[in-house]
Amino acid sequence: MKISDSAPAKTILFGEHAVVYGEPAIAVPLSGIRTHAEMHPNGREFRVISEKAHLNRTYKQLIKGSGLEVLLSRLMTIIGISELPSDTLKITSDIPVASGLGSGAALSVAVIRTFAKRYHKTFPTEFVNELAYEIEKIYHGTPSGIDNTTIAYEQPILFSKSTGFTPLRADINKLNMLVIDSGIRSKTIDVVTDVRNNFETNEQYIRNIGTLVRTAVNALGSGDAKEIGTLMNENQSLLRKINVSCPELDEMIDIGMKNGALGGKLTGAGRGGNFLILAKDKDHAEKLASLYEIKGLKVIL
Ligand code: MEV
Repeated sequence: MKISDSAPAKTILFGEHAVVYGEPAIAVPLSGIRTHAEMHPNGREFRVISEKAHLNRTYKQLIKGSGLEVLLSRLMTIIGISELPSDTLKITSDIPVASGLGSGAALSVAVIRTFAKRYHKTFPTEFVNELAYEIEKIYHGTPSGIDNTTIAYEQPILFSKSTGFTPLRADINKLNMLVIDSGIRSKTIDVVTDVRNNFETNEQYIRNIGTLVRTAVNALGSGDAKEIGTLMNENQSLLRKINVSCPELDEMIDIGMKNGALGGKLTGAGRGGNFLILAKDKDHAEKLASLYEIKGLKVIL
């Protein structure tokens, strides 16, 4: 018998990086883009398979201390089993890795939920979220927790490290927002470390991002696309100042702006990964999407 569950990607609309330093940020799940985990008995040893990650290993063959190894070990303790079942755990995902869309957190949440089903356990979302956060620390060092929270609760949120999250009225599908993959991969931990190493130079910009996010909450609430676009551009300019953009991203965003977009910014850790472009309406979004596709970029949403 097959058991499966899944978790979505996420995108940060406003406030990445500043959120690590206690400022608020806004993120939404991308429910159509998911990581799936599936378990079925294989009659032999536990094995985890991911074609995309070129992974086909038993538990013992996993790198000790890696995110997945620690997660499986934690799940054994939580469930109260001394060894993993004679199952194959198959991971498939539409979420590109190292691209700012929360692939690590989605993997953890999908695996936790599939194990819960396999052992007939009910894990409250808060518990799933906390466990995924533990694993995020292995992947990213000092994560704010916004990725796992958006993905575990699968709803738009205003998040801050000190106050947690509040659900937000922000429907990305109504916004004519494109999510586009730059094709450049970058590791969150490296970018976050650089921002930390230059914290004194960056601090004022980080606080400015926090102020901007508070304004963005109202703009999203009223659905004022022009204002949302302006705020995206301001956020991108502050992200450039803390040195988390890169010339290629700037150029790709510029293409959208020169073709009438209301706003554009990177999303997630930056220095590559995905970026957001806000179009004026549905037709305009389609035109911009084809423009980027002609240039060889993948329009995710
Ligand atoms: C990564 O998706 C978002 C960052 O703000 C890091 C974090 O919040 O943990 C760059």
